[in-house]
Amino acid sequence: MSEKTSPKNVEYGLEKIFEGAQDFLPLLGTDYVEFYVGNAKQAAHFYKTAFGFQSHAYAGLETGMRDRASYVLKQDKIRIVLTTALNSDSPIGEHVKKHGDGVKIVALWVDNARSAYEETIKRGAKSYMEPTVETDEHGEVVRAGIYTYGETVHMFVERKNYKGEFLPGYQKWESDYNPAPTGLKFIDHMVGNVGWNEMNTWVKWYEDVMGFVNFLSFDDKQIHTEYSALMSKVMSNGNGRIKFPINEPAEGKKRSQIEEYLDFYEGPGVQHIAVATDDIIKTVADLRSRGIEFLSTPPEEYYKAVPLRLEAHNHELQEDIEKLMALGIMIDADEEGYLLQIFTKPLEDRPTLFFEIIQRMGARGFGAGNFKALFESIEREQEKRGTL
Ligand code: FE2
Repeated sequence: MSEKTSPKNVEYGLEKIFEGAQDFLPLLGTDYVEFYVGNAKQAAHFYKTAFGFQSHAYAGLETGMRDRASYVLKQDKIRIVLTTALNSDSPIGEHVKKHGDGVKIVALWVDNARSAYEETIKRGAKSYMEPTVETDEHGEVVRAGIYTYGETVHMFVERKNYKGEFLPGYQKWESDYNPAPTGLKFIDHMVGNVGWNEMNTWVKWYEDVMGFVNFLSFDDKQIHTEYSALMSKVMSNGNGRIKFPINEPAEGKKRSQIEEYLDFYEGPGVQHIAVATDDIIKTVADLRSRGIEFLSTPPEEYYKAVPLRLEAHNHELQEDIEKLMALGIMIDADEEGYLLQIFTKPLEDRPTLFFEIIQRMGARGFGAGNFKALFESIEREQEKRGTL
């Protein structure tokens, strides 16, 4: 029996995604997400305190790293790396100067980094880093990287012969300050914003170079408000573990949030990281109490309409709607189930990267039914920033 029709995949409905996907690039999952930031020590404190990430590994002057400092934080399956330059003559500093704090590397866990690199380069990828073997007393890791949109990179990480904390060169990071986790489990999807009329170029790039398939699309007729619009296509790898929606701005009466992102990030880049929880009420209440700011709560009419929206698909809400409303959590439904989601405000001074917290109750979509309410909320923020 081929992997494509195994009972487990059929059970999850992934056979739909498999159709047309190619397996020259088997991906086991997201390995880590690396941010280039102005001050990694302070950023690490923020992600620990506010999001409940745990101290995991460190590299810097004390470990023999002379040009950068990197803090690795972990929460369940999520691993983020916060990296800063230690001198002015650094590509990390240049990246921060141009984009502000943002995601540089979306690393993908593979069984064979050399083959991942060769197969994608052969299909037109631009090289960031040739296959490189790093070793220490815990074994070896092979990494290789290619550019995706803007200056963002996909790094292939092969760690089957490694038993260390993170990567060679890193030490275990023991800290006396360990705020509790907030229930974040894994990365559900990561969204990229690309320039005007570039969405289809990048859709084709993910299809041709990475073997991904486009399994959902939203156009500007579905995603718009009175003022602005966007278009979005969701790309997935063959086993459905990696999902990258790609947005481009669309013409509207005023400046869309995608355009605002592109202006302030000064180019394409990662717009949001969606992290899954299995108790969104608890997670969001916790995050709010730690100072995370979310987009404003939709109006009461939105919550009044929720039961009807779920009934239309024969689903019953298991959570207390009063609690969802009090926390500003939004609900969307499709044939397969529903989902609960909420978006933070941008996490930097530039209105660029933000986080989404998501709990899936069977639905495999991305909250298209919430886009209008969401954008109106974002536009209220843009209005305050004078960027609408
Ligand atoms: Fe999302």
